[in-house]
Amino acid sequence: MAETVKLTINGSPIEAEKGALLIEVARANGIEIPAFCYYEGLSLQAACRMCLVEVEKTPKLQVGCTLPVAEGMVVHTESDVVKSARKGTLEFLLTNHPLDCPVCDKGGECELQDMVFRYGAGESRFVERKQHVDEQQWSPVVFFDAPRCILCYRCVRVCNEGLGVNALGIANRGVIAEIVPNHHDHLECDECGACIDICPVGALTSGIYRYQTRPWEMNHVGTICTHCADGCRTTLGVRNEKIIRGNNRDSSGINGEFLCIKGRYGFDFTEHPERLQSPLLKVGDGFEPVSWSKALEVVAKKFAAVKAAGGSFGVIGSSHTTNEESFFLQKFARQALGTKNIDHHRSGDLTTFVDALTDRANVLATVTDLYTAKAVLVVASDLSQQHPLLANQVRANVRHHGAHVYAVTSGPVREDKQSIASVRVEKGGELAGVEGLREKLAAEGELVILFGDAIQGESLRKLVAFGDSLGIPVKYVCLVDYSNSRGAFDMGLIPREGGMSREQMLASSDLDVLWVVGANPLKSTSLAAKNAFVVVQDLFMTETAKRADVIFPAASAYEKSGTVTNVCGEVQKLKAAIKVMGAKADLEIFGLIAKEMGPDVVKTVGIWSPEKVFEEIRKTVHGYDVSVPVIATGGAAPTMPLNGRVAALPGTVASAGDTLFTSGTLSRYSKILNSVMEAPGELYGGKGSAS
Ligand code: SF4
Ligand code: SF4
Ligand code: SF4
Ligand code: FES
Repeated sequence: MAETVKLTINGSPIEAEKGALLIEVARANGIEIPAFCYYEGLSLQAACRMCLVEVEKTPKLQVGCTLPVAEGMVVHTESDVVKSARKGTLEFLLTNHPLDCPVCDKGGECELQDMVFRYGAGESRFVERKQHVDEQQWSPVVFFDAPRCILCYRCVRVCNEGLGVNALGIANRGVIAEIVPNHHDHLECDECGACIDICPVGALTSGIYRYQTRPWEMNHVGTICTHCADGCRTTLGVRNEKIIRGNNRDSSGINGEFLCIKGRYGFDFTEHPERLQSPLLKVGDGFEPVSWSKALEVVAKKFAAVKAAGGSFGVIGSSHTTNEESFFLQKFARQALGTKNIDHHRSGDLTTFVDALTDRANVLATVTDLYTAKAVLVVASDLSQQHPLLANQVRANVRHHGAHVYAVTSGPVREDKQSIASVRVEKGGELAGVEGLREKLAAEGELVILFGDAIQGESLRKLVAFGDSLGIPVKYVCLVDYSNSRGAFDMGLIPREGGMSREQMLASSDLDVLWVVGANPLKSTSLAAKNAFVVVQDLFMTETAKRADVIFPAASAYEKSGTVTNVCGEVQKLKAAIKVMGAKADLEIFGLIAKEMGPDVVKTVGIWSPEKVFEEIRKTVHGYDVSVPVIATGGAAPTMPLNGRVAALPGTVASAGDTLFTSGTLSRYSKILNSVMEAPGELYGGKGSAS
């Protein structure tokens, strides 16, 4: 056990680890020492002097954020002399501050405002002219108002240390010192908005949120980001059925405060003018809006007729819909339609993954493991681009625990900067690259191996055999793409028992009905069955929807309840933040089709409430008997699907290769994601992946 010391803070006896910082010891014991530049998890700056405290037997006030605690220390954090010093610090900070709180975006959430309110420095003795600099727009999402800046350097540090981007710096000295972006007058960076979030004042503001509302006028809804498989928890600020802001300032969930650009800003697809808001029926070469009852009747009749005639169904589900929806859809397909032709866009070889690790315990890494593991090996993935949260966890692990990172990739990756060994290999040569690291890896105390879609089938088995041969505890993450890729697989949206894969369904000329839910397979291929009756549930008129006979307007993940499973197999809860007129949750659409088909079908598929289906999942899906209270309170519950062996499946496994700025159809319809200069240009032409 670490050596401890005894000290007194404000008269309370406290025992703490020797050398711990006073500010952290105080906070851990419920005593708040105010701070601007100190920020948990970032390096120390000691720039603002807001944390001054009185320590007996020292001649002057001490800086609490850099002061290590020592035996016998007697500290006062709220004495008159301390309060007066804080008031003085605030008065200095306000000398050049515009004090435009009534129009400042940070009003109501501003740490400077709070401190002035607490310590009082509202009246200025300075009558000199203030140094004015015009507000600057650094990117579509980042604005900077220099006079409001209190030079705490939080933004510089979070960008450098937290994101590994290093896009912000400081120019000049003294009264003209100023935060500057990496490209003189504009930013080229991850556009993650972490700097805006962490800014204690309204110096950095969001191009999306600014001047729209006050924080207390919004509802704050905690849910899960819908863009990638990492499963960041986000708090959506909602006003009048419009999502205005995304952040995670309460640090709940597996991601702490982290969100990438997609989680922070990529919610505007929900209000895109091309959102489908009525069922559509194919008439001639076009579509006609029809009532829900009409569309349901057409689909139910067709399904019943094809089933009665012994016809052939194909069902393609989604990597974005909830576990409950995926489970219900495969049950509907298997039990009510009698088909085994069920699949989704599989972006990682979970089949071999589950099989190779079956019957083992403690081999699936959680998001938290990436922050605590002694060593991490990244194989065949540009982690910062494709899994921003996982990359953030690894960076934080290196920063805080000195973790050893190894990267085996075909091109340069951001992880190179943190890696103690980066190996460049030709595509397909990853295992040879990994083998070359054997000696170093075997010397580690433990290891987490993350691998992308290039590692599948035999390569995956060989990678696991390699992990076994190291003689140290090894955990794995099979990197899949989308917000519920993992859940779609676990729920059984896969072609078991001789069913056709997604590619086989599209290539089959015998298909009578193709039912596509939340996917866009016809973006990159065509449907061989020219006369097949196609039903599509989607948010937008995708390439696949254009081929449909009936289209149902579907709700997005921000508009419904349910659960999703992230890339590490952790289940989290979605909470509906808004309602979009005309759209319905896919689960409800399935239920309405069942109802229209008649009581026998309803009896077969069961009740379509998310809670009821979740209960069924907990009882029937292997490894999903997860803790309900953990999920209900916003936590992530790990699943253990490893004994549910899956026979080899037909069909392709391929990542869509999305980047930090893309996520298939959703990002195509996010004007904000497309507006930043870092977004791949082809997005404007409507390119995107098939999910
Ligand atoms: S938006 Fe993110 S990457 Fe860009 S400057 Fe701010 S913290 Fe750095
Ligand atoms: S812009 Fe904000 S976070 Fe950055 S130094 Fe200024 S006050 Fe601090
Ligand atoms: S890392 Fe993934 S889950 Fe997290 S905010 Fe970004 S897109 Fe969303
Ligand atoms: S918080 Fe200690 S100097 Fe800024």
